[in-house]
Amino acid sequence: MLTKIFSLQNIDEAAELIVKWELIAFPTETVYGLWANALDSQAAEKIYTAKGRPSDNPLIVHIAHFRDIDAIASIPADKRASIEKLATRFWPGPLTLILPKKEVIPLSVSGGLDTVALRIPNHQTTLKLIRKAGVPIAGPSANISGKPSSTRFSHVFHDFDGKIAGIIRGWSAEFGIESSVIDMSGEIPLLLRPGAINLETLREVLPEISEYIPGKNTIARAPGMKYTHYAPKAKVYLFEEGAKHILWKYKENFESQGKKVRVILPENISHFGKHLFHILRESDLKNYDILLISAVSEVWVGKAIMNRLRKAASEIISS
Ligand code: TXA
Ligand code: MG
Repeated sequence: MLTKIFSLQNIDEAAELIVKWELIAFPTETVYGLWANALDSQAAEKIYTAKGRPSDNPLIVHIAHFRDIDAIASIPADKRASIEKLATRFWPGPLTLILPKKEVIPLSVSGGLDTVALRIPNHQTTLKLIRKAGVPIAGPSANISGKPSSTRFSHVFHDFDGKIAGIIRGWSAEFGIESSVIDMSGEIPLLLRPGAINLETLREVLPEISEYIPGKNTIARAPGMKYTHYAPKAKVYLFEEGAKHILWKYKENFESQGKKVRVILPENISHFGKHLFHILRESDLKNYDILLISAVSEVWVGKAIMNRLRKAASEIISS
């Protein structure tokens, strides 16, 4: 398949292709998404095939206005005030809300669940594309399943050239970390995935938000969590706070075995967050065998970064 490259000024054809069930990769403020018509199950199937994504891992549906929710999801009466508060503060933006889905959303989009994840992304051109397409748009991160998300055009091109109808060449993602995902369909609001908006800020609006702790909560509320994620080809060793002093011993040891080793010592957390996926992808292109990464403290976006790093790691060294 010939993959067309569109500029940000030339999105009309891309919008038409989405309506016709084709896949288009598009930048958002968090990461690039792989977008398709969310009302069509065949379009959704194409996403799973192109990414090699397990079919029980649901997709986020992107909309342009709060009022677009009504056609595709129900707002539980006892949650309306909370949902409106979150939307007023954080939409458009890197927040995804999970609500009970309506029938128009195919089960292939929701990974077989009776809920749907919704987000209004924060960029004028992204929103223009959604309005032009005139349909809600299903869009997971634009990466081969299990690999780091794409934050630059070159990342998407690497993963999907020849496999999808088009890629919009846009900006490098502003956050570089995916949206925060809150499940609003259960009794209490549950943060399923820490993301670009940190928990402290979310709790300023809704103090009752709890954190999903894998293994602790009995139901598998976050299907995406059971899969390997964000992993580069190189083996990642993550050194937690108390173990940083032994990182250099690991370096010596691996180098004496002839391995190509990269040491990553993050300094500025938000800068590191923005470039994390690029660093992981670049390490593959440069054929590193081993990445030794020192943990960041879990404040602000540090929590989302550590969530990604723990999933990317083959080994976590804690002391
Ligand atoms: O920033 C983002 O959220 C990006 C951009 C493109 O919008 N999208 C993104 O999508 O990160 P994806 O598919 O890579 O991650 C979506 C996460 C997955 O962990 C998935 O399991 C979870 O959201 N999710 C989606 N729908 C869900 C649902 N109904 N119930 C529980 N989890 C859901
Ligand atoms: Mg993803």
